Amino acid sequence: MSLTRRSPCGSLRAAQVGETVDLYGWVHRRRDHGGLIFIDLRDRSGLVQVTFAPANAEPYAAAGSLRLEYVLRVTGVVRRRPSGAENRDLLTGEIEVEAASVEILSRAKTPPFAINEDSQVDEQLRLRYRYLDLRRPSMARHLHLRHRMVKAVRDFLDREGFTEIETPVMIRSTPEGARDYLVPSRLRAGYFYALAQSPQLYKQLLMVAGLDRYFQIARCYRDEDLRADRQPEFTQLDLEMSFVSEDDVLDVIGRCFAHVWENVLESRIQVPIRRITHAEAIAKYGLDKPDLRYGLEITDLTEIFSKTGFKIFRQVIDQGGCVRGIRVPGGAGIAGKEIDALTEVARAEGAKGLAWWQRTGDGWQSPIAKFFTPVEHDALQAGTGAQAGDLVVAVADRPDIAAPALGQVRRDAARRLGLIAAGATEFVWVTDFPLFERSKETGDLTPAHHPFTSPNPEDLALLEKEPLRVRARAYDLVLNGTELGSGSIRIHDAAMQQRVFQGIGLTPDEAQRRFGFLLEAFEYGAPPHGGFAFGVDRVVMLAAAQESIREVIAFPKNQQAEEPMTGAPAPIDPSQLRELGLEIRRRTETRPL
Ligand code: AMO
Ligand code: AMP
Repeated sequence: MSLTRRSPCGSLRAAQVGETVDLYGWVHRRRDHGGLIFIDLRDRSGLVQVTFAPANAEPYAAAGSLRLEYVLRVTGVVRRRPSGAENRDLLTGEIEVEAASVEILSRAKTPPFAINEDSQVDEQLRLRYRYLDLRRPSMARHLHLRHRMVKAVRDFLDREGFTEIETPVMIRSTPEGARDYLVPSRLRAGYFYALAQSPQLYKQLLMVAGLDRYFQIARCYRDEDLRADRQPEFTQLDLEMSFVSEDDVLDVIGRCFAHVWENVLESRIQVPIRRITHAEAIAKYGLDKPDLRYGLEITDLTEIFSKTGFKIFRQVIDQGGCVRGIRVPGGAGIAGKEIDALTEVARAEGAKGLAWWQRTGDGWQSPIAKFFTPVEHDALQAGTGAQAGDLVVAVADRPDIAAPALGQVRRDAARRLGLIAAGATEFVWVTDFPLFERSKETGDLTPAHHPFTSPNPEDLALLEKEPLRVRARAYDLVLNGTELGSGSIRIHDAAMQQRVFQGIGLTPDEAQRRFGFLLEAFEYGAPPHGGFAFGVDRVVMLAAAQESIREVIAFPKNQQAEEPMTGAPAPIDPSQLRELGLEIRRRTETRPL
């Protein structure tokens, strides 16, 4: 074998006709045309067709025993394909290699799924044989794309004066809102490390240390419910900067994305990336991660119906609720079935129903039209700007139910009506998030981002009195309705940090016990600082037009957080447990055997 003489299969072109080449790769396809045997040989650069003619007795005989996925060395001469036999879909399609010798380097069992086509294969099976799945050209493309995107980010940040610094993975728990993965200490039985949910506190301490501009491609670990865009271990591009305001962080990140899009995806994005406030996002789009590839903005209709005789609306408004709606241009033509489906989407978010009107040439048509006066109908017309052929849908409820319900209806309607232009890329910054929110599970006040986020100085007077109204100096980057990343300007003052800890119910003692090191660091001259982290997996997923981050991770976990190929997690040896001073108490599960 000789790397110096090796020719990448996918690189051969007509210019090499007549040259002798040395190829290494896998049998991708095999066709026996009675007389001539063809194989497509694949390596990471692509495919090339190799021909075995009976005249060349030795290689021809060997070719008879070749099976899919055998690993071969082939030497031969590059020939132009006979006219009419070219393959325009293949970069090497003008030529073929006439085999002079073939050597089987490795035999293969029949793969459990086809590698030479992008057919639908059960994901569990793909993960079980991930090394075969990654042989599929589309998967390899995702990994190459990921590499190029990460490299572009690194190059950009290096040029901007950032230093890449590694922070520990085994740490004292950092709260990012998920459960920790824990690692028991052998030397101190009963003590545990947590796997970092993010480098948050370390990067802040690097700012206290004077490093000024830090970044890291950081592995993060979170034990949370898995979804298509969540993995228990995932990668963040994490950065932090000193002496900055929101504008500085948003500017660097915006230019970083523009650089990656331009250099890797060869497409331009508009910088500066537009911004909307959290309050505006909720009012107009119902969600804090608005998809701006289409309109369908939400309108407040409460005023129009403030005196209505329609009981459902009336009661909601009397109880302090609202009526909000969306005009769906051209939606009057959509079938009743589809309106039922939209209603179900609204209901899934807690709405009690979805009112709707179709605007026709001669007025409003709706099962509830009879409940409204002509004045109300005129106001609905003026308020929504509906034209003949449009549909208006509305939800009456508490604002915190109406907004997400319409937010989801908006997404669903856009999809049904095909309003999303292929290839559209709409980045948006969502700024001024609230500092706190109520936990859905416990009702307690929790940080909307994390407890190290600075409150907006204009709202400080509300911190103890009306904490839910305090805005944070926090921002999210959203692409086509997916949250790519989050960040904030941080607190850099111990007293302010204590006030925010108190806001989320941490006593000073508890705060001292858990975060004493941070509070102490702030006593030694902490610069104002802020930063951001985006999910690398999510960004690559969107760039590769995939629906799940598992498609852009070499060895992801399945929905049960298992890795089917190696079988992790797995039981451990009793001696390992003893060494750690641990004992497993069998759960008293009543699992059927
Ligand atoms: P946050 O928790 O919002 O912020 O995370 C930032 C981004 O990381 C990605 N992400 C995930 N990706 C895949 N699987 C997961 N389980 C997962 N969880 C998060 C998302 C998300 O937007 N320390 C702060 C950042 C900061 O304030 O600088 C943080 O971690 O794309
Ligand atoms: P009902 O009287 O429950 O059949 O409701 C009449 C219509 O009003 C139906 O189309 C419901 O989907 C709709 N509707 C019911 N409750 C609400 C609500 N809270 N907001 C908007 N529409 C509603």
